[in-house]
Amino acid sequence: LTKPFLAGRSVLVTAGPTRESWDPIRFLSNRSSGKMGYALAAAAAEAGAQVTLISGPVALETPLGVHRIQVESAQQMCDAMLVQVAAMDILIACAAVADYRPVKQATQKIKKTHQGLTLELERTPDIVEQLSNLADKPFIVGFAAETEHLETNASRKLKHKGLDMIAANWVREGQGFEVDDNALTVLWHGGKVDLPRTSKTQLARTFIKLIAEHYHAKGPA
Ligand code: C5P
Repeated sequence: LTKPFLAGRSVLVTAGPTRESWDPIRFLSNRSSGKMGYALAAAAAEAGAQVTLISGPVALETPLGVHRIQVESAQQMCDAMLVQVAAMDILIACAAVADYRPVKQATQKIKKTHQGLTLELERTPDIVEQLSNLADKPFIVGFAAETEHLETNASRKLKHKGLDMIAANWVREGQGFEVDDNALTVLWHGGKVDLPRTSKTQLARTFIKLIAEHYHAKGPA
C-alpha cells in the first residue's frame, strides 16, 4: 500500500478511559492514558482518512486534522458512537470503557461517616458488541488489554464481539497503560502477527497500515 492508503475513508477511533460517577465529586475509572488511541487517530489522518475521535477524559492534544468529540461516561461514549457509526468505514475501539458503573448517582455529595461504604455496581453496555450487531456495520477493530492468557482471551473476544481484528496487549510494568511504548499481538479470523515493542506513535503507523490492508482485502460491506 502507498500513501494516502485511507484517502476518502472515514475512520472512527475511541480512546481513553471512561468515568462512572457516583456523586458530583467522585467517580470510578481506570489507568488508560489515551496515548495509543490518539496515536492511532493521528496515524489514520496521516494515511489520508477523515478521522473522528471519541475520547474520554485525557490530558492529550487533539491530533492535527482530527475531529474530536469529548465524552465522560460509557453511556455517553455509546450514545456518541451510535450517532457517528453509520457514516464510518472503519471503527477502531481503543477506549478502555469501564465495565461497571455505580447503580445510583447521588445528586449531592455523599457525606462521609465513621462507617464503611458499599457501592453497588452494574454492567455498562458493551459498545462494540452492540455495534457489531448492526446490519450496516463498519470494519471493526477491537482492543484487549490482558494480564494473563493473552491470545486465548483476545481470540475469544474477536469471535464473541463480532470483530474483524483485535489487538491484544500485555498490561505489565513498562508496557500497556500510561507509558509511551507498547507491543501488540494482532489477531483476525485465520491469522495473527506480532508487532514488536516500539513507541506508540510508530506502532500506530504500522498497525494502521495493517488495518488498511485487511479492510481493502475484505472489500466494501
Ligand atoms: O472485554 P474487554 O473490555 O476486554 O474488551 C475490550 C474491547 O471492547 C475494546 O475494544 C473496548 O473498547 C471494547 N469495549 C466496549 N464496551 C465496553 C467494554 C469494552 O466497547 N463496555
